[in-house]
Amino acid sequence: MAEILPSLLSADFAHLGEEIARVERGGARMLHLDVMDGHFVDNLTIGPPVVESLRKVTRSYFDCHLMIENPERYVPAFAQAGTNAISVHLEACRHLDHVLRLIRSEGLKAGVVLNPATPVSLLENVLELADYVLLMSVNPGAGGQDFIPYVLDKVRELGEMRHEKKLALAIEIDGGVHRDNLAEVVRAGCDWIVTGSAIFHSADPEATVREMREIADSALVVRV
Ligand code: DX5
Ligand code: ZN
Repeated sequence: MAEILPSLLSADFAHLGEEIARVERGGARMLHLDVMDGHFVDNLTIGPPVVESLRKVTRSYFDCHLMIENPERYVPAFAQAGTNAISVHLEACRHLDHVLRLIRSEGLKAGVVLNPATPVSLLENVLELADYVLLMSVNPGAGGQDFIPYVLDKVRELGEMRHEKKLALAIEIDGGVHRDNLAEVVRAGCDWIVTGSAIFHSADPEATVREMREIADSALVVRV
């Protein structure tokens, strides 16, 4: 079953605890936390102290998406703060093999992120070192952008690589996903689906999560 991961980037930062409680009431069990450093992307967001505070108010699974330069410097701090998973951009890593091993050595799930224009073929030799691959379906740095359709071809290609290599890898997608394109995203083969503005800018985030979970569930049901 595909999981819906609300991205806190579009939540009200003055009330993060309550925002989390709302989406959890809607059934969310995994949360996506966007970390930006003003260098790899223009925007600035949160760091380990915020993750540490949020860890105290929820037991949900934390997926930290690091959009930062030199991510290896910060892996231990995010692990200490209580995240469950860390993903790093291939485009930001000079030593991707090393960084993925470092994340796993902290006892966390390790993810690699690819920008829309980066081909999945670049992962050929490191897939075994990753627990999940995040395919960006917008250019990183901001919420509320339009979904880039060719990324679904990348999802299918990665699905084939996973099948050929017999790997238990999760495929995650991030950016521009909303109610209307969700079923297509699930059918392409995504397991973890990040969505920010579609949830937190909706009138009722709790109901939106519930509804998106239902759409994701029924997308793979074959009707006869
Ligand atoms: C963008 C972030 C996303 C963002 C997605 O750089 O990585 O996680 O929150 O937001 P939406 O769902 O609004 O495109
Ligand atoms: Zn993200």
